[in-house]
Amino acid sequence: MLFGSTKVIGLDIGTSTIKLVELNVNRGTAEVISFGVAPTPQAAVMNGEILDSLPISETVTRILEQVKTKRKRVATGLWGTSVIVKRINVPQMDESLLQEQIKWEAEQYIPFDMSEVSIDFHLIPEHRSQDVMEVLLVAAKNETVYRYAELVENSGLECSVVDVNGFALANCFEFNYGNSQKEVIGLLNVGAACTNFVVLENGHTSFVRDIPVGGGNYTADIQSHLGVSLDEAESLKISAGIGQEVPEEVFDVLTSSNELFLEELQRSIDFYQASSNAGEIKRFYITGGSIALPNLLESLQNGLNVPVEIMNPFKKIKYNDKKFNADYIAQISNFVSVPLGLALRKGTK
Ligand SMILES: Nc1ncnc2c1ncn2[C@@H]1O[C@H](COP(=O)(O)OP(=O)(O)OP(=O)(O)O)[C@@H](O)[C@H]1O
Ligand SMILES: [Mg+2]
Repeated sequence: MLFGSTKVIGLDIGTSTIKLVELNVNRGTAEVISFGVAPTPQAAVMNGEILDSLPISETVTRILEQVKTKRKRVATGLWGTSVIVKRINVPQMDESLLQEQIKWEAEQYIPFDMSEVSIDFHLIPEHRSQDVMEVLLVAAKNETVYRYAELVENSGLECSVVDVNGFALANCFEFNYGNSQKEVIGLLNVGAACTNFVVLENGHTSFVRDIPVGGGNYTADIQSHLGVSLDEAESLKISAGIGQEVPEEVFDVLTSSNELFLEELQRSIDFYQASSNAGEIKRFYITGGSIALPNLLESLQNGLNVPVEIMNPFKKIKYNDKKFNADYIAQISNFVSVPLGLALRKGTK
């Protein structure tokens, strides 16, 4: 296309919050132009599936009014059960040939009729031998992709890129931290219903999995142990997260929820480790709304026995400090990694 920009809006539709980011990307630099967030309408999203499209579109429209964007094109991301990412072996071949062949290769791994799914892949460059190469196969039902696109279009926008949140997380990390790390690195985006878990080997994304646990589990645990409503449980959790005083019982529940979270995470780490010969994960970077949970960082650090750091999405991505003050940036920084990773994509139309 000759005229018009390929600049996109990054749109992350989470279980708890809907986030929208606009970036100016220019020769290896990126600057935040606008950011908007709003609570996700109740029960509209479950495990990454859009259950109730209309209230989500209305929420997106409201965020758009606040941020006053001129852009129309959107990059959004699938996650949870709406997408399958699998590490598979394929015969050694040219990448352009693989574009054509991947459907046939995918058939044995995907539990759906090939005519019903959209397929994509990412090469894992480290894992190439004479005969085989490893790729991350990405598959989503056409119907699911259509529902995301429809939602975007009902918000008055155009759906330009349908990505995967795990890859967007990796994209945001790579932009900020580079991809020259030699050690195996784990990324965790701890949201409400799920935790995106990504592994980088030699700076390349080599594993992506959405673990179905997140802050929502902590809220549910508080609700059941203290016998309070879900809303009360959520506000007790947030109060604890921002350092306000809460009953001792809340802390007891959060401590045991941390242990359950760690167990669940460990299962996925074991699964990754069994499927790779790159060695152990040497360091984790964490992000997501739920990393404010008391002692989560310490619990991960002790349980995993490796350094765990909070990922800084603004390490290299800039923002105008006249428009966004430091307090605001600190408030949003746990929430923005995935939408920033989406906003870094180039539109295709
Ligand atoms: N200060 C805080 N302390 C503890 N938890 C918090 C705090 N602020 C937000 N959260 C939790 O963070 C979660 C929302 O984070 P985020 O926006 O990353 O999730 P999401 O993208 O909507 O969820 P998912 O990706 O699982 O669909 C909620 O579970 C919320 O309770
Ligand atoms: Mg999320």
